[in-house]
Amino acid sequence: MQVPVPVSPSLEEVEEYKPGKLVKGAIKLSSNENPLGPSPKVIREIVESIEEGKLNLSVYPWGRKEEELRDEILSYISLGVVKENIVIGAGVDGVLDTLVKIFIADDVVALIPIPTFSLYESLVKIAGGTPRYIKRKRGKDFSIPVKELISSYSERTRMIFISSPNNPTGNCISEDEVREIIESVPAAMVVIDEAYVEFADSSLVKLVTEYANVLILRTFSKAFGLAGLRVGYAVIPEWLASPYKKVSMPFSVNSIALTAAIAALRDKEHLRRSVELVKHERPFLEENLQRFFTVYPSKANFVFVDVSPLKSYEVYDALMKKGITVRDCSSFRGAGDSLIRITVGTREQNEKVVDVLKGISL
Ligand SMILES: Cc1ncc(COP(=O)(O)O)c(C=O)c1O
Repeated sequence: MQVPVPVSPSLEEVEEYKPGKLVKGAIKLSSNENPLGPSPKVIREIVESIEEGKLNLSVYPWGRKEEELRDEILSYISLGVVKENIVIGAGVDGVLDTLVKIFIADDVVALIPIPTFSLYESLVKIAGGTPRYIKRKRGKDFSIPVKELISSYSERTRMIFISSPNNPTGNCISEDEVREIIESVPAAMVVIDEAYVEFADSSLVKLVTEYANVLILRTFSKAFGLAGLRVGYAVIPEWLASPYKKVSMPFSVNSIALTAAIAALRDKEHLRRSVELVKHERPFLEENLQRFFTVYPSKANFVFVDVSPLKSYEVYDALMKKGITVRDCSSFRGAGDSLIRITVGTREQNEKVVDVLKGISL
């Protein structure tokens, strides 16, 4: 199609974001959402707050609500930080958008270990920066070649994106490795994306109290089951709060989302159930699928499977025909054409996945 007005040249290299498929009536295991959905207490809180007039949708989101959410987050992460260390955005996506605007401009570089979440690269390119990719080790667990990453650092490097657990590979980076990276890259912000941390064994959030060039991203989309409401946050060093406020969109998190996130943090039982489900079902999927394929160890709410000698699209299609959507990872840079990612579902859903895959691997 002819473009009547020239768009920014920085868009030339940018791919459209490809979300996990949503097919009516299908079991959706393509976007790492919570199969239990949000806490019923969250729904009740939203409805009652609106009905009772506590939540007035005709006014802009209230600063006090945001303060309340930041207080809840502070007690949730139980770390010796203050409110200035917490910023909120429209999902991790929204927080990333702001952060990239702060750090990336023409002539600067971001280091991205791949395969990983594709938004990092898109945002860097949109902002005019240059992504530099470092291939994860495709041995047993897709770990980051730390020495290579560090040797790729230069004074032009402004951001380093580390998803831990990583999407789509499911593995975490160790604390020692992150410390080594942080200490070797003084002029770059090390962004640790902990979107899936609730399903892992530990968090790296305490590093924010020790170093000025690291920050942690978190979301309500996964363990809290609120992907549709778009709320996320970052734990940042205090000096970054002012640039963040300058750049972030005012009112980027709507008042229903703020109310829901507060209620979600208060329902510890629902969070526990959601995490337990994944920790219980993940080994079920892993053990059953490794009878047919290579399954990489995952600390997230999905499993990552190499289906070779089959191709990922063949397995994707076979599952799709049986009413199950998973993620064909061939669209992830550096992933090749034999990897799929399957969100951990309920036992019933997982059994269906295993049944279909048993059938096609024969
Ligand atoms: C590593 C990673 N970070 C961030 C996100 C997006 O999170 P949010 O829904 O909070 O924008 C995803 C979503 O799949 C993800 O995999």
